Order: sequence, then structure tokens, then C-alpha cells
Amino acid sequence: MSDRPADADIATQLTRRRDALASAWRDAGGVVLIGAGTPINRPGRDDLTYLFEAHSEYLYLTDRNAPGGVLAFHPDDGWVDFTAPITVDDRLWSGAPDEDPTGPTTAELDGWLSARSGAPVIWLGSPPAGATHDPERAQELRYSLAAVRRRKDPVELARMRQAAAATAAAFAAAVPLLRAGVSEREVQIELEAEAFRHGAASMAYDTIVGGGPNAAVLHFMPTGRRFQADELVLIDAGAQYRGYASDITRTYPVGGAFAGLQQELHGVVHRAERAAIERCRPGVEWREIHRIAGLTIAEGLVAVGVLRGDPDELVESGAVWLFFPHGVGHLVGLGVRDAGGTPLRERRDVPRPYPNLRIDLPLEPGMVVTVEPGLYFVPAILCDPGHRDRHAEAVDWSMVDRLLGVGGVRIEDDVLITEDGAEVLTDAVPLLG
Ligand code: GLY
Ligand code: MN
Ligand code: MN
Repeated sequence: MSDRPADADIATQLTRRRDALASAWRDAGGVVLIGAGTPINRPGRDDLTYLFEAHSEYLYLTDRNAPGGVLAFHPDDGWVDFTAPITVDDRLWSGAPDEDPTGPTTAELDGWLSARSGAPVIWLGSPPAGATHDPERAQELRYSLAAVRRRKDPVELARMRQAAAATAAAFAAAVPLLRAGVSEREVQIELEAEAFRHGAASMAYDTIVGGGPNAAVLHFMPTGRRFQADELVLIDAGAQYRGYASDITRTYPVGGAFAGLQQELHGVVHRAERAAIERCRPGVEWREIHRIAGLTIAEGLVAVGVLRGDPDELVESGAVWLFFPHGVGHLVGLGVRDAGGTPLRERRDVPRPYPNLRIDLPLEPGMVVTVEPGLYFVPAILCDPGHRDRHAEAVDWSMVDRLLGVGGVRIEDDVLITEDGAEVLTDAVPLLG
């Protein structure tokens, strides 16, 4: 694999991205300003800030992960890239370069706007505090930007493949540690260290390692709890490389071999994942991918005896979502939630057929989605008397009671939609079972 795309490729793609938006925004009706954002203070921690990440919209159009910049677009004058002036403090505290920026800085932005007075200003990215504009218009423009961003270009895909390779190495380092007596936190530490050794700049989100019952907490933060023999461990982790994320989950048995029912539950989720990925191709509605995953889990739960009845009806009645209580996936790319915030818009007037769908669009070539069905025994859901009443016949509740400590199984891969199907970007990550 190439180390990283050449800067010439990035320059080509930045031009392509901006040209695509210039066409979409020909009738923007004003000046569009896209703010990088500024570091966010940690409450009560004086001058300390959270790790800065430029707003994804700014990063996508500038490839610059620096605070304070504003990328401006005017339908007649095109793009102007205002970077933040460099201060002595930037040089003192952060080692900013001695040379001043060669292009325009944000000190010139007001003058540039005055020269276009009369044109309304619409902010995207991270607007400065106090900025005012028409939020509905901003939403429209953001939507067309999200439509461009959804189709990953070669630079983005190269970075995602790099992130996936680092994550594959990280999981491979974690698997031999899954023995009784090792803690969730120890696994997290070794996994992340290996990701960093393989080029990760950061993790794309807080690493999840949950042993036993903790595997049923969807975003579980690893603790000092030590694994016990024969329990499941769910690991959901992703390296980030030059802004681009991977997002991968595997569920492994402590000791290297699944015990009887664990094997069946893992098999159910694996079949659901494969069935969902096999259906991924341009034009297929994402809600259909979710339905197929749910249906496969319903079939599996009937086979093991947890659910009773016709699998299609178990999807229709919602009984299956008691065990699969999240969406089947989301866009991934520039960050772990790529081009988010707007994608349900095309279905604004149509009720969502399933709970928790994060996107509700037909698949397009170039999109990267996670496919991540799961099956969990969550006490907060399964001990709810309302659910027990509503699904009294469909669920074998005494079997559920026996399984409440089992935790859960999730399998997650990152899937590129191609012209005629799909490619799994993350299949080098070890999968047992
Ligand atoms: N890692 C969070 C998620 O899968 O969405
Ligand atoms: Mn994940
Ligand atoms: Mn995910």
C-alpha cells in the first residue's frame, strides 16, 4: 500500500471538491463562509483546551487542520482561503512557523465582505460566536455539501485504507491478550499503542472494550475489570489517519474458543452482517439494509429459541429491536460520523420505518458506510415490564432471564459502495468463529 497520497493528488481533489460545490452553489444567494472553528476550553481547567479538530466541512475543502481559518465562497468571485494570522503566542506555545502566511488572513475578511456589501452571509463549518445568518439557507447549502462529501475520492479512500490497516494491526495485537485475568483497560492500552505504531494519528473515538455483561453497553468505556474464562469480549475501535476514520467491531471469546450458545449468537450476527453487506449496492435503500440485518437476527433468534414466530412479523412488531437496539450503521470517513447531521432530509415527509436509523438514503457509489449489526442482552430493555407485556408471546422470557449476563455480540466493518456492489475495507481485521 502506498504510504500516503501525493500532495499533488490532494491539490487535484481540493480543486475538484471546490468546483463541484461552486456548481451546486451557483445560486447560493450570498457569500458562504466556512469556519474551521477554534479550540474549546476544558471547563474549569484554565487555559487548557480539548484536542483541536477543524470542522469537517472546513477540513474537507482545505485539508488544513488548523484553528481560526475561514474559507469564503462568492458565486461570482469564487473561493478565497483566509487563514488565521500567526501570533507570538502561537509560536511560543505551539511552535507555529516563523514565516507569516503568504495568502490572505482573517484580518482581511471584514474588508473583503464590505466590498461585497449587500450579499447575505451564510455560515457553514464552525461559525464564530455571535455570527448571525439564515439557518434554513445554511441547512440547504450544508445538504449539497454533504451530497458531495458522501462520495469518497481517491485521497479519502487512501487515508481510510491506511486507517483500516492500522486498526487491523491493533486488533491483531489485542486478540492474544483475551485471556482470563487480563483487564479491559490492558487490552485498550495495547490495542491503541499498536494502532499508533502503525501510523494512527489518534483514535477516531473512545475505544470500547467490554467483557461479559459490559459487552451489552453499546459505548462501554474500558475499566480495570478482569475477563473471566468463557465470557465474550466486545472490542469496537478505530484508528484515525489524517482526519479519516475506521470504525470496526469484533466480538471474541476469552480463551480463544466460543462456548456452545456463544458460537450460535456470534454466528447469527455474522450471518446478519454478511447478508446486509451482500445487499449493499448503488440504488438500494439503507432502510432495506437495516431490515435485512434485523430479519436475519430474527431468524437466528428463532433458531436458538429466544424468539418465537415468523421472522418477518418479529421485525414488523419490533420484537427483534429489543435485541438489536441500534441502527445498522452510518456514514464513516472524515471522522467516525461522516457528512452527518442532514442525511435524513430526503425522507423528511416520510415516517422512518425503523427506530434508530442514522441515514435514510439510497446507497451511491463512493459512499462508505459501516455495517454493524449487533445482538445484546440489555437489562435496561429486557427487564422493562412494558416490553415484556407487549412481546409476551414473541419472546421466551425465561430464556432471556438466563442470558441476561451474556452481554452481546457486534460485528462491524467499513464498506465502500462501488459501481456495481461493495468492497469491505476492513476485512483484514481478525474475526474468530
Ligand atoms: N464506534 C461507534 C460506532 O460504532 O458507531
Ligand atoms: Mn464502532
Ligand atoms: Mn459505527
